[in-house]
Amino acid sequence: MTDIANARPAAVITGASEGIGAELARVFAQNGHEVAMVARRGERLAAIADDVAAKGYKRPTVIELDLLADDATDTLALRLADAGLAPQYLVNNAGFGLIGHIASLDQAEQLAMIDLNIRALTALTLRFLPSLTQTKGGVLNVASVASFMPGPGFAVYYATKAFVRSFSEAISYELRPAGVKVSCLCPGPVLTGFQARAGMSFEGLMGAMKPALVPAEEVARQGYEGLMVGKRVVVPGTMNKFMIWSARLSPRAILLPLLGAAQMRRA
Ligand SMILES: NC(=O)c1ccc[n+]([C@@H]2O[C@H](COP(=O)([O-])OP(=O)(O)OC[C@H]3O[C@@H](n4cnc5c(N)ncnc54)[C@H](OP(=O)(O)O)[C@@H]3O)[C@@H](O)[C@H]2O)c1
Repeated sequence: MTDIANARPAAVITGASEGIGAELARVFAQNGHEVAMVARRGERLAAIADDVAAKGYKRPTVIELDLLADDATDTLALRLADAGLAPQYLVNNAGFGLIGHIASLDQAEQLAMIDLNIRALTALTLRFLPSLTQTKGGVLNVASVASFMPGPGFAVYYATKAFVRSFSEAISYELRPAGVKVSCLCPGPVLTGFQARAGMSFEGLMGAMKPALVPAEEVARQGYEGLMVGKRVVVPGTMNKFMIWSARLSPRAILLPLLGAAQMRRA
């Protein structure tokens, strides 16, 4: 075990075995940060860590962990301390969605989504706050354009992301005097493992979503840069910015059926 004062500052990235999280791990490493990567699939984490090292950057520490386990926060704190690391940046990226009617989706899975997307993100933020404050670091929470609107056909997922953005914006204000930056990254559609996990069809993916797609690498770059300059909300892609703007202006009576029909086509 190491106390914060003697530990090396690190960027702790959850959900780093695939998709946006893997790209965030690469971007932090490329910018000279020591990185700790967290996810359940240790082999995938190790392969990405090897690849980062092969490109000449410090090899990230791999932490194989299920963030839905009861003791996940304590376990992560212990594993970081054992590795001599203190979180300077916390990237709460691990998350998933489920597409479909709430009555037909599995109840336990919908609740697990809340546990991962909301509870684990909040628990990690609260737990590592002393270290983030001491190292004058920051938090990057990954929400979604979904956080700006209700999502019939994706109801629980959209609601979890609304929590993430609200929480992030509020604490960005609360933590600013302590020198801790907080940014909320709100991607639109990105082709990752997310779509298969959510149960989206391929046709659904390649339909109306196509013009809004931004590569995971670009999303990660914009998220990193946004955090470093203390940007409260980062929305990669012009189409996605437009989507948020039009959702803000549209009456719910128009928006709900439009979104509901679009999501159901993707299921
Ligand atoms: N892709 C999109 O279109 C999109 C759009 C907006 C926002 N987002 C958000 O972006 C974030 C990353 O998603 P992604 O698109 O990169 O999806 P992804 O490719 O499916 O990656 C999800 C990551 O979360 C990890 N994870 C899932 N359950 C976990 C658990 N119980 N404990 C620890 N790690 C867990 C996965 O690793 P293991 O399976 O190895 O545990 C994986 O590394 C999510 O919060 C998602 O909601 C995605």
